[in-house]
Amino acid sequence: MTAGLSIAHPSLHADSDFWNNPYPFYDKLRAVDPVYQGTVLKYPGRYITGYQEAEAVLKDTRFKNRIPMPEASAKYKHLKNLQKDMLLFTNHSDHKRLRMLIGKAFTLKKAERLKPFITATVHDVLDQIDHSKTADLVSDFAFPVASLVIADILGVPKEDRASFREWTADVIQAIDLTRSKKSLLKAGGTAGKLTAYFKDLIQKRKTEPQKDVITTLISEEQLTEEEVLASCILLIIAGHETTVNLICNGVFSLLKHPAELSKLLENPQLIASATEEFLRFESPAQLTARTASEDCVINQHLIKKGEQVYILLGAANRDPEVFHRPHQLDITRNPNPHLAFGKGAHVCIGSSLARIEAQTAILTLLERAPDIRLVKTDVTYRKLFGFRSLSALPVVLS
Ligand code: HEM
Repeated sequence: MTAGLSIAHPSLHADSDFWNNPYPFYDKLRAVDPVYQGTVLKYPGRYITGYQEAEAVLKDTRFKNRIPMPEASAKYKHLKNLQKDMLLFTNHSDHKRLRMLIGKAFTLKKAERLKPFITATVHDVLDQIDHSKTADLVSDFAFPVASLVIADILGVPKEDRASFREWTADVIQAIDLTRSKKSLLKAGGTAGKLTAYFKDLIQKRKTEPQKDVITTLISEEQLTEEEVLASCILLIIAGHETTVNLICNGVFSLLKHPAELSKLLENPQLIASATEEFLRFESPAQLTARTASEDCVINQHLIKKGEQVYILLGAANRDPEVFHRPHQLDITRNPNPHLAFGKGAHVCIGSSLARIEAQTAILTLLERAPDIRLVKTDVTYRKLFGFRSLSALPVVLS
């Protein structure tokens, strides 16, 4: 345990401020030690809040990308089996092979070519919203946009998107440090449903190939059937959760900072740097994890073989050593070397798509609804340690 520490840790049950504003807690951890050793929410390990240290661990392949399921029980076998073949949880040569094959579908060029489709999708979704009534930007806007886009890319029927929202939420809850036995069991069942759903869809694509990512993955001889299945599931979950959060966190940040909103309305070309700032300021993925495969020294801290390391991306992105006035939203911030998409071998494969989607969604929303306003300022966040995710964002568009 890091010496001299007396910090109130977030509690799942107490009505703690942490869930709505984790940043004071991160600052306290960093002040004690940027490579803090302790237990948060039942999980002992190293909690990294310093930017330099976070970047060093992410780039160091001695830290393996594996989130062990400590609740090692046969009951969670569906979930474990799926994780085993997912790009995110593979290492070294398996990871390189999978990344090269899946990455082909998510290049910047491919994302740029999708821009007209993304713009049309955003307009369609906005057309469905009654602009004079309260709308929830999470359910009525960001979720439909992200879900229609990823469904089209992968080749998943868009009618099934309600199921995907539910299934994604179950899996996200199970990989978060707030997980309980109940949520793990539920996610085990959901992993079974996802497996059955995609097995069926993969079979259909084998007999009737389409111009979609599922068909591309099937045609890759170097991918096993299990890897194709796990990749489809990873992509559908990754494509939903964090992109929805980026769009909503971005809009909410602007509505709470009217001067920054006016700047963007006057200079729409600022949308690219504004999106980088939303990624830094309210990072959709707040945490990622690694296991030390040998004793490693990071900035004079010895991390022992087998230790679990939690990299708090949302904390590193507010490290005052790197970011001037880190708790200030500045849509013109430059440079902005945030770690919101990770770094190193596992850096996000969908970052170009996520950026284009968020830029298009936020700008189109503001163009069509420049008078958008919050219905209430005390919105709440989901109780997740690893994701910055609004429960709902009620607004009136005009
Ligand atoms: C704002 C949106 C997004 C954020 C903030 C985000 C964040 C991240 C982060 C932090 C990682 C690295 C995890 C680690 O190092 O352990 C990652 C990896 C990954 N992301 Fe994203 N992501 C986003 C959107 C997407 C989208 C749209 C897709 C795909 C459709 C995607 C697919 C992936 C995949 C497949 C990986 C694993 C890469 C690997 O292990 O080599 N992400 N993402």
